[in-house]
Amino acid sequence: MSDPLSVNYDTQIPNNVDLSSDRRVLRALEKWHPGYLNWWNQLIPEKFQKSNVYLRTAIGVDPQGWAKFDYVRMPEYRWGVLLAPQVEDRRIPCGEHAGEPAWQEVPGEYRSMLQRLVVIQGDTEPASVEQQKHLGLTAPSLYDLRNLFQVNVEEGRHLWAMVYLLHKYFGKNGREEADDLLRRSSGSEEAPRMLGAFNEATPDWLSFFMFTYFTDRDGKMQLESLAQSGFDPLSRTCRFMITEEAHHMFVGETGVGRTIQATCEAMVKAGITDPYDINAIRDLGVIDLPTIQKKANLHYSLSLDLFGSEVSTNAANAFNAGIKGRFMEAKIDDDHKLQGDQYTVRRFTKDGIVEESVPALSAINLRLRDDYVKDASGGVKRWNHMIKKTGVEFEMTLPHEGFHRQIGEFKAASITPEGDIISSEEWEARKNDWLPTTADGDFVKSLMVPVTEPGKYASWIAPPRMGIDNKPGDFEYVQLHMA
Ligand SMILES: [Fe+2]
Ligand SMILES: [Fe+2]
Repeated sequence: MSDPLSVNYDTQIPNNVDLSSDRRVLRALEKWHPGYLNWWNQLIPEKFQKSNVYLRTAIGVDPQGWAKFDYVRMPEYRWGVLLAPQVEDRRIPCGEHAGEPAWQEVPGEYRSMLQRLVVIQGDTEPASVEQQKHLGLTAPSLYDLRNLFQVNVEEGRHLWAMVYLLHKYFGKNGREEADDLLRRSSGSEEAPRMLGAFNEATPDWLSFFMFTYFTDRDGKMQLESLAQSGFDPLSRTCRFMITEEAHHMFVGETGVGRTIQATCEAMVKAGITDPYDINAIRDLGVIDLPTIQKKANLHYSLSLDLFGSEVSTNAANAFNAGIKGRFMEAKIDDDHKLQGDQYTVRRFTKDGIVEESVPALSAINLRLRDDYVKDASGGVKRWNHMIKKTGVEFEMTLPHEGFHRQIGEFKAASITPEGDIISSEEWEARKNDWLPTTADGDFVKSLMVPVTEPGKYASWIAPPRMGIDNKPGDFEYVQLHMA
């Protein structure tokens, strides 16, 4: 057995799971590999396939120094199979089997439930790359272009992570599901991606930053709950994926932050104090704060939908089976079984929004979403701090949980970002104040012109405070192949 902390790059498929002595799975993955490369090559424009991108590659799975940075052409990126090291004597953390040894093989009774979770997670990974495929052509800087591609190659690796599990543990069914992950595609009529938010286009860079801030954070929460799985290989896979996910949210938070900063600085310089003086602000070549807020409203509400219904028997079953845990399950001080416990749900009724106590087991989705909301509010606070420092008077907020929802308790409701219930007529009349309009989208798109000179940035976004891998401001993060 090789060292589980270091990754073997001698094989065609880098891994720390000793693939070379697992012929069956190695062969299955080698068969899947060309289809994957084909998917990648068709997705990313040719000029970027030939460019040298300064990317990080994982060389070990221990938290100390696991990454190495170097120029690489993306089709030659070493995607691989990386699992966090096995924890000795790990136990199932929750549900009716809590305290029993974690499963190293798929427990027969939960096979289809587990496979479905792996497939859904796997489906989101390539979907986001598909949603972002046009963005390279309008990157506001080489720094941002590099970050986009870093996120993309890592989502590709996350697909590999789920495909490994399917091939290794789910037999013929698993192999078919792995093929289908390359067959479906975001926004396709015949074979769309499985979850709604992953079929929406990412039309511009502000959307990309909002997506990585809000939607990748949903991904992080799902991974956190799967990292608690009693099925140990799934837990180990997800634990390593979470370390990569942190970078995606960094890209989102700083991307939105830099956009806000450019706007505030331009307003101050031009002597504009009213954030709603939209035309004057847009004339400065920056995105007005109310439009940034609308984009946040959209991506936040779409991301809340990804948690599913607040009250759900599927989620209860998965928790009870020990297949999925809560956020930070091991740190929660209770019996981890939730039999007889209660949780408060906000419901939309004819009497308005009322709080109701339901069995905690059935509210697992909501609990994860409540933790997500806390997690997502951190960056918003930091954005507001930044706005305040420039002297501009404006505050970014997260809308009410019932605002613009398609799934769950609030799907039939018309609710303002402040949480007021209104009629559907009033919603129609006012929704353009809260969600991006076509005209807003067109304006943002008009700013999306590529900037390819090292150290230079588009007007609408401020430079980062620090370079990637401590590189200087004018570092050439992407050596473009101009063909
Ligand atoms: Fe991912
Ligand atoms: Fe991600």
